[in-house]
Amino acid sequence: MTTQFTHRRQELATAIKAGIAVIPTATEAIRNKDAHFPYRFDSYFHYLTGFDEPESVVVVIGGEPSRSILFCRAKSEERETWDGFRHGPEAARSQFHFDDAFAIDEIDTILPQLIENKNTIFTSIGFEPNWDKKITSWLNKTRSRAREGIAAPASLVDVREILDEMRLIKDAEELDIMRQAAKISAEAHIRAMTATTPGKYEYEVEAELLYHFKKNGSQFPAYTSIVAGGRNACVLHYIENNAVLNDGDLLLIDAGCELDGYASDITRTFPVNGKFSGPQKAIYELVLDAQRAAIEATSRGNSWQAPHDAATKVLAQGFIDLKLCHGSLDKVLEKREYLKYYMHRTGHWLGRDVHDVGNYKSDGQWRNLEPGMVLTIEPGCYIRSAPDIPEQFWNIGIRIEDDAIVKHDSGCEIITSGVPKTIKDIELLMSA
Ligand code: GLY
Ligand code: MN
Ligand code: MN
Repeated sequence: MTTQFTHRRQELATAIKAGIAVIPTATEAIRNKDAHFPYRFDSYFHYLTGFDEPESVVVVIGGEPSRSILFCRAKSEERETWDGFRHGPEAARSQFHFDDAFAIDEIDTILPQLIENKNTIFTSIGFEPNWDKKITSWLNKTRSRAREGIAAPASLVDVREILDEMRLIKDAEELDIMRQAAKISAEAHIRAMTATTPGKYEYEVEAELLYHFKKNGSQFPAYTSIVAGGRNACVLHYIENNAVLNDGDLLLIDAGCELDGYASDITRTFPVNGKFSGPQKAIYELVLDAQRAAIEATSRGNSWQAPHDAATKVLAQGFIDLKLCHGSLDKVLEKREYLKYYMHRTGHWLGRDVHDVGNYKSDGQWRNLEPGMVLTIEPGCYIRSAPDIPEQFWNIGIRIEDDAIVKHDSGCEIITSGVPKTIKDIELLMSA
């Protein structure tokens, strides 16, 4: 087990000073009788531990020296026969470098002792009702010992304030995993593109993506894939993926795999029959220009808002040129008339969660981009049918999305560039 997890726990210990942090992993969720949803650990918990079993809690005690403790499932020959391998507390200590580890069954006895005489508990507040109840019961248990001279923590602080900032800047290990996740997703998009023909169903193309993800070691898709032919692409969160693909339509695919707890997030839009029509080309080139402008603006020291402003400006001018909006660029921007066709933001943080944690503003201002931040760059254009819109553009929905790492010197590294996005390259790939 590599040491980045112990480094992160140490960083948290320093941040919480004389407090104690208590962070549970995710609970298993029932899908329907006797069947569970695939288990996925909690992102914060895994960031600090690298431990992927359910029913686990990590405790980090600040001060000098700091300590980190894991509660996890006890070894059990019987349970391991039914449900599979468990590390158990002993391996948690030796392999995961915890100062101490206990069986999760002991937590109600041990936790109230660990929080004795600490000033603050750092945990996720209001995230999970059952967890809030547990914290309260441990606090009350400690409070009940006041006559013995034992003090219970007087304050509860949301630990996510600290962890979100830590998670926002990715370290070298994280970036390596994210590059690998992006590579697998890029290959999957190529596979989906080459498998697409008129008459296939959206779910058949989705199957190509999922096959490639799994075949290459991804544990899950990072989110439900969007495979949206024709007008379905104008529904931003379309996930039915059950329509037939028509000759002459575009296909928008927004899909990315999760690898070892890290997401990737790619969108490509291409013609079902391999050739863009004139109106499709016009909108596609516009969105691609907007993406180029946003990528150009993605550099350390620039505001988080800069890529969005750059993309929006290009799109707004394009909408005017194509007679989708009317009047001056200033007016279309000021009255936000572009929202009719471009109603979402140009990106989001990317990391363990596809919409990753981290504030976008600091002291009321958009924060600046810093090296090690990872974000998506995903302008789009979605044109529904309406009498006031030129008919040639009806039902065209296009988004182009890549994942970018803010570099140390300047500019950004696009980690999803393995999948083609110029008209020429897409048509070449699809004709092969
Ligand atoms: N796939 C989710 C998003 O692009 O934000
Ligand atoms: Mn996406
Ligand atoms: Mn995205």
